Amino acid sequence: MIRPHGSETLTPLFVYDVALRHELQREAEGMPSLLLSSAAAANAVMLGAGYFTPLTGYMNTADAMSVAERMRTPQGLFWPVPCLNLTQNVSPIEGARRIALRDPNVDGHPVLAIQEIAAIEELTAEQQRFICEKVFRTVDPSHPGAATFGALGRFAVSGPIEVLNFSYFQTDFPDTFRTAIEIRNEIQEHGWETVVAFQTRNPMHRAHEELCKMAREAVAADSVLIHMLLGKLKDGDIPAPVRDAAIRKMVELYFPANSVMVTGYGFDMLYAGPREAVLHAIFRQNAGCSHLIVGRDHAGVGKFYGPFDAQKIFDDEVPPDALRIKIFGADNTAYSRKLKRVVMMRDAPDHTEADFVQLSGTKVREMLAAGQALPQEFARPEVAAILMRYYQAEAI
Ligand code: ADX
Repeated sequence: MIRPHGSETLTPLFVYDVALRHELQREAEGMPSLLLSSAAAANAVMLGAGYFTPLTGYMNTADAMSVAERMRTPQGLFWPVPCLNLTQNVSPIEGARRIALRDPNVDGHPVLAIQEIAAIEELTAEQQRFICEKVFRTVDPSHPGAATFGALGRFAVSGPIEVLNFSYFQTDFPDTFRTAIEIRNEIQEHGWETVVAFQTRNPMHRAHEELCKMAREAVAADSVLIHMLLGKLKDGDIPAPVRDAAIRKMVELYFPANSVMVTGYGFDMLYAGPREAVLHAIFRQNAGCSHLIVGRDHAGVGKFYGPFDAQKIFDDEVPPDALRIKIFGADNTAYSRKLKRVVMMRDAPDHTEADFVQLSGTKVREMLAAGQALPQEFARPEVAAILMRYYQAEAI
């Protein structure tokens, strides 16, 4: 089975020993505490779940600058996006050695994790700008990820953490949320070697469905891991519960039984395009997958990235020995009116644009908001019905 990233075994930072976890929970109530940003809380959940193996906690400024600049820590670990705990106000934790990290996304802000403080450093405006520019390839505040990053604060609180729960993900998505260990164990139990992961933050339409089927066929996969983002999104993106229902319906009706794992992970969307794609590859490798599908405008937003930049980064910037997981690079995929099925455009060189049924995300939203049915060539009717219900309820 594929080895985790940078380690022989997974290193989840969740405290699995129940007695110890309860003791830490009690202890944490008496500690100075920091209310996390949603981004830092999502990092804690990913660290807890083993997806961020082999990291042991939040990075310091030197780590973050090095990761931003060359996708490596100063110690040489390949890593594409700084894992930071940035905050605006450190007065409640000044002088403390161990602190309780409180969850901004759960009522009452319960303790999510305990952090040992290695350092508190103030990033300069230049450092903040440098990280943003490298990770998002822009500092434009109209980029949702750059805007979120810019508002996190300048103090980097670094050091190892112990994670005490999985925030709202386990409670809100009990059937879908999985840790990397759970997925890895499931793959191991089945004795699967080749598992292709599909990252998504959207409901899946026919192009996505076919992408999974084409990738499974092309790499002769034992299974497909549909692995959806369950954390925060920008305005206008479809909320996770609606997307989860739509994806489950599609899998139930259009995939052979037991050929797909429908799962999710607790992280906020960065919209960092190429750099996020590399992070996606790392955490699918940690979950035991042999391949990750990277298609058109993977993890992108607006016109900030070229349609295939997230594939190019693996060729141009990721050293050949940095990752074990392989990328299944997909071309633009759409329904062909001529062939009457979904194809990758590179496989239909005689086609013109007009031969394909293509709808932009904006167009889909407009149609659903207006109560107009999506074309059957674009979306499965049962999936479209779930989305229509959501948009019509929103409109009330
Ligand atoms: S993402 O932000 O999570 O990447 P989305 O859920 O829309 O967004 O896409 C999931 C995956 O499907 C990504 O790898 C993306 O590149 C790919 N993808 C989406 N639509 C298409 C398409 N029409 N053709 C090719 N690849 C696509």
